Amino acid sequence: MRRNILITGASSGLGAQMAREFAARGRNLALCARRTDRLEELRTELISAHPGITVAIRTLDVAVPDQVFDGFRALAAELGSLDRVIVNAGVGKGQPIGTGRFDANLQTVQTNFVGALAQCEAAMETFRANGTGHLVMISSLAAFRGLPRNVTAYAATKAGVASLAEGIRADTLRTRIRVTTLFPGYIHSEMNPESDPNPLISRTVPAVRTMITAMEREVPTAIVPPWPWAILGRAMKIMPLSLVARFL
Ligand SMILES: NC(=O)c1ccc[n+]([C@@H]2O[C@H](COP(=O)([O-])OP(=O)(O)OC[C@H]3O[C@@H](n4cnc5c(N)ncnc54)[C@H](OP(=O)(O)O)[C@@H]3O)[C@@H](O)[C@H]2O)c1
Repeated sequence: MRRNILITGASSGLGAQMAREFAARGRNLALCARRTDRLEELRTELISAHPGITVAIRTLDVAVPDQVFDGFRALAAELGSLDRVIVNAGVGKGQPIGTGRFDANLQTVQTNFVGALAQCEAAMETFRANGTGHLVMISSLAAFRGLPRNVTAYAATKAGVASLAEGIRADTLRTRIRVTTLFPGYIHSEMNPESDPNPLISRTVPAVRTMITAMEREVPTAIVPPWPWAILGRAMKIMPLSLVARFL
């Protein structure tokens, strides 16, 4: 069992809910994000509901590599080890390419891809030293195609992290290190608020439970939640680009 679990992007949305689910299963947690007040509130909530667990927090910006390396090392020391690292922090702030918003697209790439690379480096350093560990990468259904408008850079980062995860998996096939890539569909979070009228959006708590199930099984890849996103994901892969451009 992976006892000590580090989650980035734990201050809201999917990451915060993952922390609640793992806390209920008695796991120790290392929670990271930029908003310290949110992390402190979550730690108070988790420790009062589950007094037997340890919850360490660390304020860090994943787009600043030294904060990731120092933060992960400090959290590993505080918990004694890191057994699972969930690379979850992400933003979806992109704008159509060539419309003068390089800043927004750069922030998306630096957070979602460069930040993910730094997290993988830091996690794999400790897993390689221990000879075991579970790396979980939160990609997206958006990884399956190049996407138009505000999600062009975002989709590219999510394809990038899925490829990064597969490469690390290839590198560690005959070891006790496991790598899981999750491809979530649309789920309520701060990125997709409950005010969003899209009827397909999945509810946070049940959706995150399907993510936890896939992580605990340590499957190589999973589309989560499976319904309706596994079918829509397969459709996305074969859709003509004209439909992608119109509907996605
Ligand atoms: N919700 C969906 O439908 C969906 C679908 C597919 C994939 N995903 C992926 O799931 C992950 C979680 O997103 P979410 O939906 O839960 O959105 P969210 O509620 O907006 O959460 C994003 C989390 O990432 C953290 N974060 C953002 N930039 C950061 C930075 N530079 N350094 C450190 N932490 C940072 C945020 O914390 P601070 O602001 O406190 O730093 C927050 O905790 C993301 O990677 C997202 O791409 C979500």
